[in-house]
Amino acid sequence: MTLNFAKKSLLGAALSGLVSLSAQAGTVEVLHYWTSGGEAKSAAVLKQLLEQEGHQWKDFAVAGGGGESAMTVLKSRAVSGNPPGAAQIKGLDIQEWADLGFLTELDAVAEKAGWDSMLPGVVSDVMKYEGHYVAVPVNVHRVNWLWANPEIFTKAGVSVPSTWDEFFVAADKIKAAGYIPLAHGGQAWQDATVFEAVALGVGGAEFYRKAFVEHDQTTLTSPTMVKVFETFKRLRAYIDKDAAGRDWNIATAMVINDKAAMQIMGDWAKGEFAAAGQVPGKDYICVAAPGTQKGFTFNVDSFAMFEVKDDGDKQAQADLARLILEPEFQETFNLNKGSIPVRTGLPRDKFDSCAHTSMDDFVATAKSGGLVPSMAHGMSTTSAVQGVIYDVVTNYFNSDSLSAEQATERLAKAVKAAI
Ligand code: BGC
Repeated sequence: MTLNFAKKSLLGAALSGLVSLSAQAGTVEVLHYWTSGGEAKSAAVLKQLLEQEGHQWKDFAVAGGGGESAMTVLKSRAVSGNPPGAAQIKGLDIQEWADLGFLTELDAVAEKAGWDSMLPGVVSDVMKYEGHYVAVPVNVHRVNWLWANPEIFTKAGVSVPSTWDEFFVAADKIKAAGYIPLAHGGQAWQDATVFEAVALGVGGAEFYRKAFVEHDQTTLTSPTMVKVFETFKRLRAYIDKDAAGRDWNIATAMVINDKAAMQIMGDWAKGEFAAAGQVPGKDYICVAAPGTQKGFTFNVDSFAMFEVKDDGDKQAQADLARLILEPEFQETFNLNKGSIPVRTGLPRDKFDSCAHTSMDDFVATAKSGGLVPSMAHGMSTTSAVQGVIYDVVTNYFNSDSLSAEQATERLAKAVKAAI
């Protein structure tokens, strides 16, 4: 009875043009970690488009910013021989999963839609394993942003900083005016997100690349790295005492709700401002993190498909992969998510000023050499190396047991051992 009704209403919707039923309907279980307000709105766009094709979306959301918990769950499902049909994995992890033989090739979908001609090379390279597409990119997030509350800046009588020196001057005045200068959540991935912004600001793109992409020992042990650690530690004095364990979106809410003046976070934070009805340039300000105007740390979200047996489920996976790069999804999803479309050449009129800056800077930094992969978000290195960097950074930031020199030495040794 219920099933009949469901079929009938689906058929009715199909006839009225709302749903285009695929030849074979199936189900995709989708593992993701998009659970904050802005993120959930974004994930819902994909679910809706998939369902419009007559397929079912089985939601498998694992909360936890940065996706560490989601990756742990994915590993245990894969090890027990029962991975989800699609999972939000990215960067060098894609190569690792493909190397283990888990991923489905997406070449047929990619060729038909012409992915090679619509994606920047820096992105398509990461989506391919041995020349074959095994993942589909969703967006481009910029990580090195500073989000600011203009009202608090006005009250404190300072302007939004563009260098680290200016940052500390402004932060002192904001503190004196009775506000929390920096909203932050004490979680390892958030510490690493701020650390890499400091590294880019203090050392520049070449230093950043040598340290976090090439793992060059001379750079990792350099006086510049000591300065990065020193600058990073100074931020502690401007974060409130309740930061430990706080989720990133709660920190963003502190800027939205006039409690804190700034947050250093990728532009998924913009999804929170947007979900709260705030407008850039008026209710909040977005600028490059101090000293990083000529740099762009990119973070590309993507989905990979795991082998499934059922033909309908295979079709659902192929349709999901195709939909992700279609203009409709690229626009609506990225408007909600705070990121910019990964597909080039789409109209930009619906996007706000922060997104326009990001789009322009992505192109400009790709030419100038300032475009660098985010270490904190799995773009620059393997999860093993990323893990040891997280450990050193977070231990140093949250205790006083190490000097900046000792942290530098420890980082270099840990990276060397983990490569
Ligand atoms: C992901 C974003 C996500 C953020 C917070 C990043 O690593 O790329 O899509 O919104 O973490 O969870």
